[in-house]
Amino acid sequence: MMDWTDRHCRVFHRLMTRRARLYTEMLTTGAILHGERRRLLGFDPSEHPVALQLGGSNARDLATAAEIGEDFGYDEINLNVGCPSDRVQDGRFGACLMAEPALVANCVQAMKRAVGIPVTVKCRIGIDEQDTEIALDELARGAVAAGADALIVHARKAWLKGLSPKENRDIPPLDYDRVYRLKASTPDVPVIINGGIADLVEVKQHLAYVDGVMLGRVAYQEPWRLLSTDPELFGEPAPHATMKDVLEAMMPYIETELARGTRLHSITRHFVGAFHGVRGARAFRRYLAENGVRPGAGVTTLREAIALVEDGPAVSIAA
Ligand SMILES: Cc1cc2nc3c(=O)[nH]c(=O)nc-3n(C[C@H](O)[C@H](O)[C@H](O)COP(=O)(O)O)c2cc1C
Repeated sequence: MMDWTDRHCRVFHRLMTRRARLYTEMLTTGAILHGERRRLLGFDPSEHPVALQLGGSNARDLATAAEIGEDFGYDEINLNVGCPSDRVQDGRFGACLMAEPALVANCVQAMKRAVGIPVTVKCRIGIDEQDTEIALDELARGAVAAGADALIVHARKAWLKGLSPKENRDIPPLDYDRVYRLKASTPDVPVIINGGIADLVEVKQHLAYVDGVMLGRVAYQEPWRLLSTDPELFGEPAPHATMKDVLEAMMPYIETELARGTRLHSITRHFVGAFHGVRGARAFRRYLAENGVRPGAGVTTLREAIALVEDGPAVSIAA
């Protein structure tokens, strides 16, 4: 998610679940081919398994960007066919590619030829006036024939004119059944559902019909829910018992980043929802907002903020 799931966020999330797959923000092929690659693509080894999401529609550029991503060590390349922003439409990629299934298939094929890691597609069920039965089937059929290793479907349309990107995440109605039908007609390729899924109870309900579930906003805004992922979905212990333990485990990473010149706030901004619902959460947030941006702010500042929060296992909140 743009501006949210940067590498600091992903390191934080990885400390709550070893098993969930993490995704980068969308990076355009232009940025990867012509930008500062190390800054854009560098990530911490602890983040694995981590997928690089690409935005683009030129098959050759996507193949080159995918190759670069593979060289950086990413575990999967994902093509964005779901973002509705104007900037993306101008570049003729993102959700508007729902109208160009043959082009998407060409892009997938080019990326598959270029890399050995899985290539996946994240799409909508349709755009604008499209019939979602036809549009999603055509998109999926082309991508699968081209070798796509999985399809991630945000279970709502995108309206390219008239709705902002934010509205396009809330207003078009969710149609989970449409994604279930895609799975039923595509038994050999993993189908992952996304959109409006609030907690692990709902995740389990979807898993009766599809192969996987992608959590977007809830993973970011209520990250403590991730602490239940490994125990509840994979029968394995959580990496840490409490959110305080998670943040303590972040300290060495934070110290290394601060020594490199990263500002504390760039990392701690992702902790806003960490203690959601726990007494002291507001004081924690306020303390970090006021002190985390000061020159010299460091792990001591974070520890002082954490001390304002009442003890208690975060996992119990998720129940
Ligand atoms: C701030 C923000 C940035 C996003 N950026 C991306 C992105 O870069 N790539 C993408 O595929 N989806 C992006 N999304 C959409 C989410 O991945 C997801 O499809 C959508 O929010 C619906 O799922 P949810 O209800 O679980 O959040 C973004 C969402 C938000 C809120």
